[in-house]
Amino acid sequence: MSNWNERLNKTMPHGSSTTSKAPHLLPEEPEIIVRGNGCRVWDEKGREFIDFRNSLGPVSLGYRFPAVDEAIRKQLDHGIIFGHPTALECEVSEMLCDVIPCAEQARFLKTGGEACAAAIRIARAYTGREHVIQIGYNGWLNSLASGAKVGPREAAHTIPGVPAAISALYHAAGWNDTDGISAYFDEFPGNVAAVIVAADYRNFELGSTFYPFLREITRKNGALLIYDEIVTGFRVALGGVQEYFGVNPDLCIFAKAIANGMPLSVYAGSREIMATCERRGFSISSTYGGETLSLAACKATIETFRSFDVSGHIREHGAYLWGKVNRRFKAAGVPLALEGAPACPMFIQGSSARPGLLSDFFRAAYRHGVSLYNVSYVNFSHKTDDCDEAYERICRAIEDVK
Ligand SMILES: Cc1ncc(COP(=O)(O)O)c(C=O)c1O
Repeated sequence: MSNWNERLNKTMPHGSSTTSKAPHLLPEEPEIIVRGNGCRVWDEKGREFIDFRNSLGPVSLGYRFPAVDEAIRKQLDHGIIFGHPTALECEVSEMLCDVIPCAEQARFLKTGGEACAAAIRIARAYTGREHVIQIGYNGWLNSLASGAKVGPREAAHTIPGVPAAISALYHAAGWNDTDGISAYFDEFPGNVAAVIVAADYRNFELGSTFYPFLREITRKNGALLIYDEIVTGFRVALGGVQEYFGVNPDLCIFAKAIANGMPLSVYAGSREIMATCERRGFSISSTYGGETLSLAACKATIETFRSFDVSGHIREHGAYLWGKVNRRFKAAGVPLALEGAPACPMFIQGSSARPGLLSDFFRAAYRHGVSLYNVSYVNFSHKTDDCDEAYERICRAIEDVK
């Protein structure tokens, strides 16, 4: 029996465990994906798509990437998870401390959102303070500020299910909103535990002045600076925005790209701050933190990123493809564009666009065999030929919406 979307919606809110993965552009969009290989995926109807969704970020090397799959298979022969730490847990934390500029210690969880929650918990315990300033989306566990983003594409003013007393401790600020952030520090003197910031993809390069501002204001006020590198980690540079812009935070979170799709997140920072985890009464702990298949995948992913300058490939192929697509939008008079970091640029709709133009374009792209997302990611398996083929298909989609 097919009609997957109908069945999923019957048994599952949103018809998907990940809200942003639920298809809204049927019948062009795939109802379900049955397999992937390299930079391509296939749906239940046998349609092939050159894929730029990459599971919304985690697939950094490509689907079924041989070195990663081999490492998972090899580890599977030894067992999945144990009642004591493993050599992999040690080796991968050492590798991450080597790769991530601010990291002297690192510890594992499964999802980005829970690792953000862990970093916030550490910051509060370390500083003895309560308030948190949030910039960007940091996962559903921390979507607590009035006006904070409850999903990557949304803003909300009240968060159903979050007690007002908790919400009152979180404060949303915009990317590069230096005045707003300064005002929060004035409003809660001596009681801001941390600023947690996820980069704005569209205005990414403003990070060159915004991160130094955040570093200075947090230092001046005795708050910790936390980078949510769940999307930027490995992707914009192996060491994330802290390597790219050369400004270190106190704590950071890496997830998504680090294990090529296996569920693994990392919270990391200086030895002094991470030592908070060992304080009496303090607890962050999860049964699955040291699960070895994800750690084996992470080790193989880091080795591949180092051997082949994968971050460079992602940036360069992103710039190549999205640059061509942008020129084509312009030449065709279609008011759409990709803006921001080439590794994770955002589609935007110009002010002259008719309502629904971007959705129509996405529909047309699916029709011609390209799977896009608001933030579209190139992976290491998108070689120049794949980018050229994707470009040809995208050009046909642009013709359709012209
Ligand atoms: C910047 C950012 N932070 C946090 C998260 C949450 O990560 P997870 O979905 O693994 O909990 C996401 C997920 O999209 C994200 O993009």
